Amino acid sequence: MIYDFPRYLAAKKTVDDRALNAHVWQTLRQHLPPQPAILEIGAGIGTMVERLIEQRFITSASYTAIDNQAENIATARQRLTHLPSGIHLTLEAIDLFAFIEREQGQRPYDLLIAHAFLDLMDIPATLPLLFSRLKPGGLFYFSINFDGVTTLEPTIDPILDAQIEQLYHQTMDERLTGGRPSGDSRSGRHLFTHLRQAGAHILAAGGSDWVVFAKPDIHPAGYPADEKYFLQFIVETMHRALAEHPALDNAQFEDWIRQRQAQIEAGELVYIAHQLDFVGRWPGKDFKSLQGNSFIIREKQDF
Ligand SMILES: C[S@@+](CC[C@H](N)C(=O)[O-])C[C@H]1O[C@@H](n2cnc3c(N)ncnc32)[C@H](O)[C@@H]1O
Repeated sequence: MIYDFPRYLAAKKTVDDRALNAHVWQTLRQHLPPQPAILEIGAGIGTMVERLIEQRFITSASYTAIDNQAENIATARQRLTHLPSGIHLTLEAIDLFAFIEREQGQRPYDLLIAHAFLDLMDIPATLPLLFSRLKPGGLFYFSINFDGVTTLEPTIDPILDAQIEQLYHQTMDERLTGGRPSGDSRSGRHLFTHLRQAGAHILAAGGSDWVVFAKPDIHPAGYPADEKYFLQFIVETMHRALAEHPALDNAQFEDWIRQRQAQIEAGELVYIAHQLDFVGRWPGKDFKSLQGNSFIIREKQDF
């Protein structure tokens, strides 16, 4: 199997289309100002801006999409050649933290998007930096935040399946990138607290599970679009994450991977990942400190 990340992101688009929480998505649509200035971080190959244009969410906007992998941004440039004239797109291969540092004092954004991204970050440390780029009252849309369930069906061995799921999630919790913590296998549920602690207001939240399965009317693979590749990539990601893991019998794990690959070939594998979407507002720093003061005043009155 060729491990091709831009192809994986392209294959993921139809899976995400089905998964995105419709209530959260419509709440974003209702609150989006006309001609918004949008920043998308970890934008990959640009499938979110495509989706927003295809669904006529935005007809006139300035859209900045960044990703730290030059290969992804190069693919986005190839995909996004024919844009409506009202869309002004800026694509840049740059690390998020370098971008935020460079942009301090620049015009802030109306909407910040992070799609299938925040669960790779140290969220409490990252949110204040992200919100520093929003206007007071600006919107955030944080979608596809992984939330602690990876299900592969049919069962191969209930005990081994559960152990592999648990160890796979542990690799997310323990991941470090450049020495920084960079992952949380329960990001979705933790976001309720992290957003509140960062002073943000949630307008809507809901489940956005990936559910991938084969259908008898789709030939030859059974899976829609390029979702067979999507599944192969997911199984290979688990393979790489847990290869030679000291808690696993390596031969048994390799056999488990082969069986999962065979299930994909046979159109039998069902994959479910539990995730959550959020849309909300960041009231701004002053608003937050005001809220803090009124809380202190109320507390004093209680005594
Ligand atoms: C799971 S992918 C999701 C990509 C895209 N949002 C999508 O769903 O198709 C996460 C993306 O974040 C990017 N990324 C990871 N760390 C980053 C950082 N520090 N700065 C900018 N981009 C980053 C990766 O290159 C990758 O494209």
